[in-house]
Amino acid sequence: MDISLYKRKGVVANKHMLTLANYSVNEIYEIIHTAVMLKQKQHAGKKHEYLKGKTLAMIFAKSSTRTRVSFEQGIKQLGGTALVLRQDDIQLGRGETIRDTALVLGRYGIDGIMIRTFKQSDVEELAKYSSCPVINGLTDDYHPCQVLADLMTIYEHFGKLEGLKMAYFGDGNNMAHSLMIGGAKVGMEVVCCCPDGYRPNEDIVNSAAQFGKVSVTDNVDEAAKDCDVIYTDVFFSMGQEKTKEKIDALMPYQVNEQLMAKAARGAVFMHCLPAHRGEEVTEGVIDGAQSIVFEEAENRLHAQKAVMYLLMKNR
Ligand code: CP
Ligand code: NVA
Repeated sequence: MDISLYKRKGVVANKHMLTLANYSVNEIYEIIHTAVMLKQKQHAGKKHEYLKGKTLAMIFAKSSTRTRVSFEQGIKQLGGTALVLRQDDIQLGRGETIRDTALVLGRYGIDGIMIRTFKQSDVEELAKYSSCPVINGLTDDYHPCQVLADLMTIYEHFGKLEGLKMAYFGDGNNMAHSLMIGGAKVGMEVVCCCPDGYRPNEDIVNSAAQFGKVSVTDNVDEAAKDCDVIYTDVFFSMGQEKTKEKIDALMPYQVNEQLMAKAARGAVFMHCLPAHRGEEVTEGVIDGAQSIVFEEAENRLHAQKAVMYLLMKNR
């Protein structure tokens, strides 16, 4: 079904948001439509305190600007409160188990937990023992919340999702993985363009391919051809060591003016941010007319509010 025909129902079946692989296309549409509704209310200055009295705990083992602020500001706008827990400030950072942490948080009236960490298995473990919804705010493997905001942004820009072509250039990382899964689910063609040695995880590519049209190539011309959305991300994700070898391998995949010229007319440039101008993208592209990166960043707020609303409202 085309996303524009979808009618909001106010529910998703999933208790947690760990990866978009567990979400149906209709659930993804539900989140996007809810985010659009919440954005309209916020822009119109209308109160929307649908999570009054609820508390979100946020655990961070890595840095964050957008995820931290969008969730914290988002829960406040929904009438709730946030508890920010840097991993090093809590006993988790000193070796307390994830299971014990989940069981303890469950005793304090926490209604949702957002976690940003390294291992996807840690997020899954937390969800296993948590009595409240767990939201993945980025792991080494996935970044589903970012992709929900991205799909919302693409929908707002093009008025559709199905049939669009998106190409991701650079490191085959967490963003590449989640874009392939989310994009394939909503009927987009997703091409991941990267060199040998920096390709996305093969198992994740194969799983994304079950949902739709995804491919991996090292051919920049082929990937950019007829492309509606050109996407890139940092060469070095959080926790990765910076090496000259990787810069040399990824520089031919830099999104620059020449690459943008190969895409479809009307193509847009997207980046989850933070960006490194002069590495994965040139200043001219990210600060140019085709870039929608700040709309994309704003939509983190609305998309995250939609996820919290749908997962936490019945607690
Ligand atoms: N895009 C994103 O997740 O940004 P932060 O690392 O600033 O949260
Ligand atoms: N791939 C990047 C995304 C940051 C939002 C990282 O994991 O650091």
